[in-house]
Amino acid sequence: MGNDKLFTAFNLKNFKLRNRIGVAAMTRMSAGADGIPRQDVFDFLVRRAQNGVSIVHTEAIITDYESAQGYPGQSRLLTQRQLDAWKPVVEKIRNEGAIAIMQMFHCGRMAWPEVNPANRTIAPSAITPTQKNPLTGTPYFVPDSMSQFDIEHVIAGFVETAKGAVAAGFDGIEIHGAHGYLISQFLSPYSNKRTDQYGGSLENRYRFAHEVINAVKVAIPDDRLLTFRISNWGIADMEVSLFDSASEYQQIIKFLSQESIDAISVSTYDFSQKAFGTDKNMTQLTREATELPLMICGGIFDRVTADAALEDADVILSAKSILLNPHWVEDIHAKKPLERNLSEAANIAYTDEPLP
Ligand SMILES: Cc1cc2nc3c(=O)[nH]c(=O)nc-3n(C[C@H](O)[C@H](O)[C@H](O)COP(=O)(O)O)c2cc1C
Repeated sequence: MGNDKLFTAFNLKNFKLRNRIGVAAMTRMSAGADGIPRQDVFDFLVRRAQNGVSIVHTEAIITDYESAQGYPGQSRLLTQRQLDAWKPVVEKIRNEGAIAIMQMFHCGRMAWPEVNPANRTIAPSAITPTQKNPLTGTPYFVPDSMSQFDIEHVIAGFVETAKGAVAAGFDGIEIHGAHGYLISQFLSPYSNKRTDQYGGSLENRYRFAHEVINAVKVAIPDDRLLTFRISNWGIADMEVSLFDSASEYQQIIKFLSQESIDAISVSTYDFSQKAFGTDKNMTQLTREATELPLMICGGIFDRVTADAALEDADVILSAKSILLNPHWVEDIHAKKPLERNLSEAANIAYTDEPLP
């Protein structure tokens, strides 16, 4: 190992990335009632571009004013004021030599009715995670199983938010299909027990993701990136494998490869872990099933793990390491010995303590 692929340029569609390192999406829960993040949260994103990454993902932005929100303090990109707040941030990120990608999601059954204007929780099926909500210590709310009207309304929210991102100048849009949130809930047999055209077979469980991708794709100009994030784990019931087998996962990746998307982003807890009882990790299984550009995230904390993760991917993303260490890109470049950060240390992201 020890090659320099990490610091070589990469062409992601019409964007030339200066290296293979990006900031993963990180929720900060800093927004007030206006749905706009705190200034220091904006400044953090700009600073990481300044610190040398090539891609900056936003926190996951919620897609509507009905039922999308899963945590307090999340932001939206649906009003002119919200767009105007993000515009200078995007411009500064670009001026620092990185690209800005807006990540958006609907929380589905992970949503809190209290923080949603419609006071409602919706999901593919009326079942909750078995775990309690770690933030409130109470059980998750039994969601309404989504009607056809709900499905169309939710897709419209993704489209409107994507339009907001385009108007704010973002270079790309990421559809969050990972971590057991709404799109992931449709994909997984663990949370999708529907008997209509959105449930049952793999094709049917994929249909909602397909409709979201297609609707967003036609709403955004061709010069913007469209990416999709996927994982085999969810935030609640974390130990559950969301796909039943490697072949089921790889079939989803093949479906995604047929879409007009520009990259697949895979989130893991630890990129090096072998998956589905095979001798391959998630990146290797994904690479086997697609030729699309591939981003990998999870447990990448030093030069050795970064090089190893990049062996089968095109870009690595960091969350915890880059959250806590403004010099992470430099340190990786210098092959400095670094420690893996624990999740508890990352909880600073949810406080109003300014980050380094
Ligand atoms: C504070 C924090 C907030 C996060 N918020 C999001 C998010 O909004 N969207 C998302 O896709 N992943 C989110 N994640 C997951 C990370 O993007 C990443 O997939 C995960 O932390 C594994 O990478 P790491 O080992 O580099 O931390 C978050 C992680 C942390 C630590």
